[in-house]
Amino acid sequence: MDSIKVNLGDRSYPIYFGTGILKGFGGTYTKFSNSKKVIIVTNPNVGKLYYEVVEDSLLKEGIEPHRIDVPDGEEYKTLTWASKLFDKLIALKADRQTPLIALGGGVIGDLTGFVAATYLRGVPFIQVPTTLLAQVDSSVGGKTGVNHRKGKNLIGAFYQPKFVYIDIDTLKSLDKREIKAGLAEVIKYGVIRDPKLFKYLEDNVDILTQDLKLKTQNTALLHIVKRSCAIKAAVVEADERESGLRAILNFGHTFGHAVEAVTKYKEYKHGEAVAIGMVYASKLSHRTGLCSKSVVERVRNLIKKAGLPTEAPNFPRKSFLKAMEIDKKVVGGELRFVLVEGIGKVRLEKVKADVIMPESRL
Ligand SMILES: NC(=O)c1ccc[n+]([C@@H]2O[C@H](COP(=O)([O-])OP(=O)(O)OC[C@H]3O[C@@H](n4cnc5c(N)ncnc54)[C@H](O)[C@@H]3O)[C@@H](O)[C@H]2O)c1
Repeated sequence: MDSIKVNLGDRSYPIYFGTGILKGFGGTYTKFSNSKKVIIVTNPNVGKLYYEVVEDSLLKEGIEPHRIDVPDGEEYKTLTWASKLFDKLIALKADRQTPLIALGGGVIGDLTGFVAATYLRGVPFIQVPTTLLAQVDSSVGGKTGVNHRKGKNLIGAFYQPKFVYIDIDTLKSLDKREIKAGLAEVIKYGVIRDPKLFKYLEDNVDILTQDLKLKTQNTALLHIVKRSCAIKAAVVEADERESGLRAILNFGHTFGHAVEAVTKYKEYKHGEAVAIGMVYASKLSHRTGLCSKSVVERVRNLIKKAGLPTEAPNFPRKSFLKAMEIDKKVVGGELRFVLVEGIGKVRLEKVKADVIMPESRL
């Protein structure tokens, strides 16, 4: 089993990677905690596929796992469901030492992390991400939270896990559309920090969008997941609470959030919206003279090759801008964007509204 460390002083933690390692989860768990009781939060979909494997691995170590199910869907990442989890934890007599294990995608990870951060002022938290997006992005870095009816992720806490346990075999049951959505975030890491990863994706992304059965796909998946986590870890190490550098992880996200908001979060998956957002952000970078046309083309072509959308329907300029303004990246009337200078190099820039959208269609 491979690992990398996220260095955050006394909040440092490892990320473990492997193929078929879920059955060994219990053994790793015992290195981190003496608690004989653990709570696993999952959803019926993921639970059906993977709960028993994790449960068996814990029982083998003499640990007593308890399962809590949250219905499947972003609409359950709410304070209401956090509160239901608190009720269950109290009923199960979970104490300060009882770890919460998130088994699932980003929704389960964000919700469970938020509950772990706040129940009894903080209990140990472990991430077992099972979607590509969760493995390369949401499980690392300590952002936890729930949605509010006025916006996504408006309530939350920075709360780091004790460890992250990534079995890329779990991706084999994942819908292809979810894999592609996760690939958008991987492409993002290439653009913001790693020209070699970007080139690797240009050469290999097509095999990752096919059915995940081949050994070569395992190698490619492990490579991109590890590289993505290493980049995210490095950025988070430099700026844990997003007071500066961490914002580069939002490349494509300001436009992406607007695309999601204007389509009422129904049409696009987050990763798909980010894919469109990355193309728009690259075009904006070119318009402001920061990068050449060929950079825009490379970004657009890779996104297309990954089977992701590169354009959103022609929304009215006004509603698009309005959607961007409720995003958290507004600074003093101007919008702060992550713009690309070249593949692997980005910078934060404040941009005025008329430059962001000079035409009704971007
Ligand atoms: N905390 C962060 O830093 C951060 C970063 C990015 C995104 N997020 C959040 O992550 C969430 C999106 O996460 P997501 O894309 O993982 O969505 P998700 O958690 O909704 O999972 C997507 C779907 O895949 C299913 N699924 C999960 N694992 C599976 C598997 N192995 N096999 C088959 N089906 C499986 C789920 O049941 C669900 O239906 C959003 O709420 C977003 O705000 C958080």
